[in-house]
Amino acid sequence: MGLRSPTPFLKTDPARDPYEYNAYTVAPSQMAIGEIPGGPTPKELEEHEIERILQNFADAARRAISAGLDGVELHLAHGYLPWQFLSPLYNLRNDRWGGSYENRLRFPVECLRRIRTRIGARAILGYRINSTSFWEGDLEIDDVKRVHLDLERQTDIDYVSVSAGVHHSWIHTPMTFEQGWEREYSRAFKTVSSKPVLMVGRISYPEIAEDLINSGDADAILLSRQMIADEQWLTKVKQGREKDIRRCVAANYCWRSVVRGSRVQCAYNPVVGREAIWGASSTVTTYASKRILIIGAGPAGLEYARVASGQGHAVIVYERERAVGGHVRAYGALPYRQQYGTIATWLAAQASGNGTEIKLERPVTAENLDVILAAEKPDHIVVATGAAYRRDGFQGQTGKPISGWETGRCVSWDHVALDRVAAVPGEVLVLDEMADVAAPLTAVKLAKGGAKVRLLTRWPMIGMETMPEVYFHWIMTYLQEAGVELITSHTVRQIIGNRAEIANVYQPKNSRRINADLIVMATARTSETEIYRLLRERHVSIEAIGCVLAPRTVYEATLEGHRAARKLSELRWTVAKPGGGSRLAYSGF
Ligand SMILES: Cc1cc2nc3c(=O)[nH]c(=O)nc-3n(C[C@H](O)[C@H](O)[C@H](O)COP(=O)(O)O)c2cc1C
Ligand code: SF4
Repeated sequence: MGLRSPTPFLKTDPARDPYEYNAYTVAPSQMAIGEIPGGPTPKELEEHEIERILQNFADAARRAISAGLDGVELHLAHGYLPWQFLSPLYNLRNDRWGGSYENRLRFPVECLRRIRTRIGARAILGYRINSTSFWEGDLEIDDVKRVHLDLERQTDIDYVSVSAGVHHSWIHTPMTFEQGWEREYSRAFKTVSSKPVLMVGRISYPEIAEDLINSGDADAILLSRQMIADEQWLTKVKQGREKDIRRCVAANYCWRSVVRGSRVQCAYNPVVGREAIWGASSTVTTYASKRILIIGAGPAGLEYARVASGQGHAVIVYERERAVGGHVRAYGALPYRQQYGTIATWLAAQASGNGTEIKLERPVTAENLDVILAAEKPDHIVVATGAAYRRDGFQGQTGKPISGWETGRCVSWDHVALDRVAAVPGEVLVLDEMADVAAPLTAVKLAKGGAKVRLLTRWPMIGMETMPEVYFHWIMTYLQEAGVELITSHTVRQIIGNRAEIANVYQPKNSRRINADLIVMATARTSETEIYRLLRERHVSIEAIGCVLAPRTVYEATLEGHRAARKLSELRWTVAKPGGGSRLAYSGF
């Protein structure tokens, strides 16, 4: 109700049910949704509609209690409808529902009172409110404390759950925010509240949680993203298995999947949303342990290793680099992005803990492939060799490398991130087609190293794909602080030594040449399929997972690794060998 959505949610098919479908959002005032460009302007609610909505809230609460829940929580936060009534930013009304503070408070008060009447005295009734909105003109901590005092006085609430931010600003704080950073706000609530204060915000470590409670900053703590990343968090804490906790890295793939219209997904917990089939109770121990050789210790190979060795298979991983992680390692080496790298180190530690042997700096090549197969004698081989970032400027829009790229000093962004580019020269051009954090943060790294950096994209803005992950604001902040020059709506037409000819996408004749002693490509990837093809020729049992199939994100990589490893123990190894016995029959293809 009152969800700040770019488009009205279609609860019914407007074609089939035209009288049920209202093609507009509603709000206290006609104020366009400001957090997205071109956000729709809602219909201003009329008195009878407000009355109907209040009734709907109370009815919904009653249904929840009737269904067996112990309590309900009113969402008075984050810019949704009840907050819109409360906030002077969104509520521009002059009737009894707006204007003065008392009038703006009327909707939440009415809502909580009616809910209490409908659910009875025994059911728990709490409410959630954001302590700060990080947005000029909206309510801040002192205003919200006052609201709480009045709600305590005027309604029968049992607790308050304190969060931070509205959709205009940020709710899902980035990985640079310290654990439990919202404690100053819950502490402020505690000074005035006679009811229990619950707090949330980047809490993953049990010792932080304990400290928050013991210090009196909160009466209870809430874990949001951490419980998505690891639904077994509490069990692991109770069992003293802290190192086994899959830490939330705050990369916000989960939020991205929601705003993209999907269900909640986690960047590296493929069980999320699949608990019924892949939950903790579904863990199997194999009755016929197999020897598995995995080539590549990126997220796909490591997740496969973790799950397969956890089932009792003998797993060995060959990795050509001196550290695990594949592309995750490169992302984790970028400034402000270190926690991302723990995805790989956690997967590797878990796999090793389950008995996987990881051999680093052991490239598998056409030359040594047969020697390795003879030495390891695998029953099954998993190819997880990933994909390489290209340095020739190849991209989907053009389907070919940039003309003259060989004449310039062209490198891929991951080489910069991993410090494989020797000296950073005077003027650098970073070319971005990926539109995620890679190119901007590589540019920041180079600029901080003293280079004059230009970041160029054909798109009308930098970092488009960082918006659903709520990182755009931060990326832009870092870029501005580092003094990176942004060039949007431009392509690189050709490279001539240390000069790049760039052209405006919409006025192609409008071109110019700029200095580019180093050109960093964040443009395209190519799957590393050589070993896969060689193994196919040998007719051994193999399958390929992750970016070696098609370059994608860590989400798809870990999902495929997980799924494939689970299948391993479901297999029947029944094909008869010529001359007796049986041999491995499975191939992922
Ligand atoms: C995928 C996702 C969905 C969320 N949906 C809601 C929601 O419906 N209502 C709400 O109050 N907060 C919602 N939140 C915000 C969280 O409750 C929490 O306030 C925020 O993520 C900060 O806590 P954390 O650092 O523990 O994740 C959501 C967060 C995520 C990641
Ligand atoms: S997707 Fe990222 S932010 Fe979301 S729960 Fe998983 S690790 Fe945390």
